[in-house]
Amino acid sequence: MKKISLTGIKPTGDLHIGNYFGAINPALELAKEYDARYFIADYHGLNTMKDPVELNSTIRQVAAGWLAAGLDPEKVIFYRQSSIPEVFELTTMLMAFTAKGLMNRAHAYKAAVQENTEKGNDPDAGINMGLFTYPVLMAADIILFDTDIVPVGKDQVQHIEMAQDIAQAVNANYNQPVLKIPQAGVQDNAAVVPGLDGRKMSKSYGNVIPLFVPEKTLHKTIMRIVTNSQAVEEPKDPDASQIFLLYKLFASAEEQAALAARYRGGGMGWGEAKEELFRVVNRELAPMREKFNAIMADIPALDKILEQGAAKARPIAAATVRRFRKAAGID
Ligand code: ADP
Ligand code: TRP
Repeated sequence: MKKISLTGIKPTGDLHIGNYFGAINPALELAKEYDARYFIADYHGLNTMKDPVELNSTIRQVAAGWLAAGLDPEKVIFYRQSSIPEVFELTTMLMAFTAKGLMNRAHAYKAAVQENTEKGNDPDAGINMGLFTYPVLMAADIILFDTDIVPVGKDQVQHIEMAQDIAQAVNANYNQPVLKIPQAGVQDNAAVVPGLDGRKMSKSYGNVIPLFVPEKTLHKTIMRIVTNSQAVEEPKDPDASQIFLLYKLFASAEEQAALAARYRGGGMGWGEAKEELFRVVNRELAPMREKFNAIMADIPALDKILEQGAAKARPIAAATVRRFRKAAGID
């Protein structure tokens, strides 16, 4: 039997280059040898996305992004989390095996508490239960499909470890392998894609290069990359520049060697380095952008693809829930 690869993306904003190299691309590579299940984590999105029009549109954009990047819905089971009620049944069951202390240690929750404390606010101000229990819903997403590997960026590794802990707690209690223990699959060369300001590229930092904006906007965004004040003629260290780190993701080995030599030799300013980066980024993104726009022009067809995916996913999901309920004595 083929092994199972599964991952999800929250519909919380425009897809960006970090999502592409950290999540979408590695996932599509894995889909070549694994049985893949990829989905839109729309109930995870609801934690922060309270505007219905915006959430509705972002769900479609993320779905169209996967398809434009090359996901083949004939080969990959592709669906919306919200179409699989078994996810929520499993979440409730997993809650009974999840230590509250484990949730207290989740990075996202801890960061929110810390921010509140620093501002002198109540520690739990603005924190909803969806954020607090986020890792349990994510564990259910994963465990429901007997997942072997979860392709994600480094920032998600803690969540996968929590899914392991929760599944192990279930198996230990019933003294049998009721649930499969998943593993994280992190791409080494792109574990953290840097953003315009050199920090991790992230919607929450407002430093992203979006995947599907018009060419002009893409150019403008790349020209906004923050650089130091080294003069044009000064030799530059390619590995200390986020322009070059981004370039490496898009350029061939020869292109990388040639540009690195120009950095080191001096005589190339940051503006020129950015133009060269734009050229290779646009080369890769232009055909994807066209596909994306075509998919977004026919939302009913897109929704049909997602519904067909959900119809394939549900029997698999139901089998896991049945197995767990039986082990738990709720059958
Ligand atoms: P954001 O940080 O912009 O909110 P998400 O948390 O929605 O992005 O991430 C969706 C997926 O993309 C996750 O698997 C995450 O690990 C991956 N990802 C996001 N940003 C990056 C990045 N800068 N480098 C590598 N992977 C990333
Ligand atoms: N938490 C993930 C993120 O922020 C999204 C996600 C939800 C996910 N459920 C998942 C990723 C299951 C992998 C597997 O990017």
